[in-house]
Amino acid sequence: MLKPDANRERIIEMLEHEGGVTEDSVRKVSQETGVPEADIWGTGKFYSLINNPATRVRVCDGLTCQMFGADELARQVVESGKQCERVSCLGQCDLAVASLSEEMELVTYSKNETSISPASDTLAINLAGEVDLSYSALAKARLMGAEAVISQLKASGLQGRGGAGFPAHFKWTSLINQAKTERYVVCNADEAEPGTFKDRETMLRQPHKMLEGLAIAAAVVGTREIYIYIRGEYVNEVRVVEAAVEEAKGKDAKGPLGDFNVTIVRGHGAYICGEETALLESLEGKRGMPRLKPPFPTESGFRNKPTLIHNVETIACVPAIIHNGGQWFHDLGRTEAGSKLYCISGHINKPGVYEMPLGVTLDELVDVAGGYVGTPLAFSPGGASSGFLPISKRDLPLDYKNLADAGSMMGSAGIVVLNDTVDMAQAANWQLKFFERESCGQCAPCRIGTQYMRRQNENYIQLGDPATFEHTEDVAWEMEQGSICGLGMIAAKPLTSAREHFPDHFKTRS
Ligand SMILES: Cc1cc2nc3c(=O)[nH]c(=O)nc-3n(C[C@H](O)[C@H](O)[C@H](O)COP(=O)(O)O)c2cc1C
Ligand code: SF4
Repeated sequence: MLKPDANRERIIEMLEHEGGVTEDSVRKVSQETGVPEADIWGTGKFYSLINNPATRVRVCDGLTCQMFGADELARQVVESGKQCERVSCLGQCDLAVASLSEEMELVTYSKNETSISPASDTLAINLAGEVDLSYSALAKARLMGAEAVISQLKASGLQGRGGAGFPAHFKWTSLINQAKTERYVVCNADEAEPGTFKDRETMLRQPHKMLEGLAIAAAVVGTREIYIYIRGEYVNEVRVVEAAVEEAKGKDAKGPLGDFNVTIVRGHGAYICGEETALLESLEGKRGMPRLKPPFPTESGFRNKPTLIHNVETIACVPAIIHNGGQWFHDLGRTEAGSKLYCISGHINKPGVYEMPLGVTLDELVDVAGGYVGTPLAFSPGGASSGFLPISKRDLPLDYKNLADAGSMMGSAGIVVLNDTVDMAQAANWQLKFFERESCGQCAPCRIGTQYMRRQNENYIQLGDPATFEHTEDVAWEMEQGSICGLGMIAAKPLTSAREHFPDHFKTRS
């Protein structure tokens, strides 16, 4: 007999299995789980991949896809007689324009292939390197013991790669100091920040680095329970990770992962579920709405138990740190510790994922990525959340501190380059639409503010009158101060940064 909470945890998956949210499917899931129908309906409607069961082509609305003709693709889909839904970034910016077919297969329209850094032993993730199935770092970590592993993590200076850059060792230490012994390790593979596709490449090319990192984390914090939450649109990535788990568990669970219970959970089309507490809500079968913090997940996370949550890239750095020592990893960086996966797309020649010393400049990165296309004007350094910077900042070290000091952020290191063919009011609008669509709606400043920003900017685009921006700075302040989570706090950034750095694009237009 399943516990009530275990029933609840299955409802999203069950709705998907039933083909999405319909009166029939909701009734059936309610009968099987005992969760009230209204509750199931409300939960299912939160997730875009199941809230409308009709199959349709989904065309990406992300910044890079928009720059490269997503509207035209959507028009062609509609003209062909198919249903078309515009969706938030699909994480294929290097292959823009991207869409998902009615069968949820990825279709891309780029003439480029994804570029990655050549193999090198001086890279922690080393996407192009050989796949190592020995799990020797796990064996070494077990011999070292928890304290020594955390001490190497501290020496490495590893900062969380999910966006905030919080030092990893603090979380691990906090977890082992908790009194509760039921604990969880969760991998955040919900990558959905526009411009970002590094976790995608890590899962496709080096899934065992992620799995070994998770196993080391679980062994250190004293649990066998590992959850990997992968965004639902990453259909291929789910398959690759599932196969890698099977491979590492081995026959009769005798392989290196044999000791661990690894559960892969698919997201269902809600960007906000990348926020760690929203992710936990989603894992628990609820709407992915961020929780108030504190308590932080290390204290009260999944099922209210201590939970270590890390981004794919953060956790995939761990085996190399154990193999080579914390100092080795630390010294890979330039202005801050470690090597870093930078995603780059937009107006450059070889979009892709490049692992470089943390703190390289945009020019250095673009040099490796085949050079600029046209005359560069602006760049978005860390996803939609980071707003825009002018190209005059091309020599700024791309790290956590320097970007924050410049009024932006490193975020997910999803860099998009825009050349001077782009209207920055239009570019801001694409990003504003994203936040409006993805706000979970529980805080009024975020729910109303994201609509307001998009509407005022659209008014400007249509009428050319800057008076429409009269109150936007005040509203942006209210959003920053009055929102529960990071989405609302930075959702005005695309507009405020574009107006600050590109005043010529926001003048009176006739
Ligand atoms: C709106 C929002 C979206 C986020 N999306 C992601 C995401 O897709 N992937 C991710 O790893 N972290 C994301 N984060 C950061 C997570 O909340 C969390 O900080 C991270 O998973 C912690 O892992 P780390 O310490 O390895 O960075 C997001 C945060 C916010 C506020
Ligand atoms: S800030 Fe926005 S996304 Fe975050 S919890 Fe509030 S309404 Fe939801």
